[in-house]
Amino acid sequence: MEIEYIGHSACALSADGGVILVDPFISGNPSADYDWKNRNVKSIFLTHGHSDHLGDAIEISKTKNARITAVFELANYCAKNGALANGVNIGGKISFPWGDAWFVPARHSSSTPDGVYAGEAAGIVFSIGGVKFYHAGDTSLTQEMRLIKEVYKPKAAMLPIGGYFTMGVDEAVIAAQLLGVEKVIPIHYNTFPPIKADVEKFKYKLETVGIEVVIMKPGEKIEL
Ligand code: NI
Ligand code: MN
Repeated sequence: MEIEYIGHSACALSADGGVILVDPFISGNPSADYDWKNRNVKSIFLTHGHSDHLGDAIEISKTKNARITAVFELANYCAKNGALANGVNIGGKISFPWGDAWFVPARHSSSTPDGVYAGEAAGIVFSIGGVKFYHAGDTSLTQEMRLIKEVYKPKAAMLPIGGYFTMGVDEAVIAAQLLGVEKVIPIHYNTFPPIKADVEKFKYKLETVGIEVVIMKPGEKIEL
């Protein structure tokens, strides 16, 4: 599985001869420079409805004919706004020709930029080519991470470390250990002043317990 980091919590997974976008916050994202118009966007996933995750999803869906998969209330909101959307919920496994995705619990809130209730916030576990990757979305440190390890055994995770709206560096260090992952890609930090975080401290702390930390710059790719 190849992952391109777009910036903030947004990434593009290579699959199905194209890309699967997760939380495509691109316009208005000071850390993103991703030309989605020139990509073969096959599918879009949203962890929750906040503007820094919903991002450009509706416009991308309309332009690229790409279906959004999101929690039921958020999917309905996207559909009402003209997108193609598939409503799912926490605990569900959704199968595609390219692999599977499971919506898993996140401890966070979820509403759309115009204040509409958007259901529960989620994390998403992807299985592509036999590799499992967990995108935590926005969440606090939670006991659910023990179960995510036990049930899905993800190889790698994207974890928020910015604090303020999500867990911070110290909690994310514990999260990575609960998840039992080999590799962590820190996300959701330094995009805006309240979520400034010491990513080098995060890397140091996890590497002392044998978990690799890959600090990705927007536009960089990693093969899992
Ligand atoms: Ni959020
Ligand atoms: Mn966020």
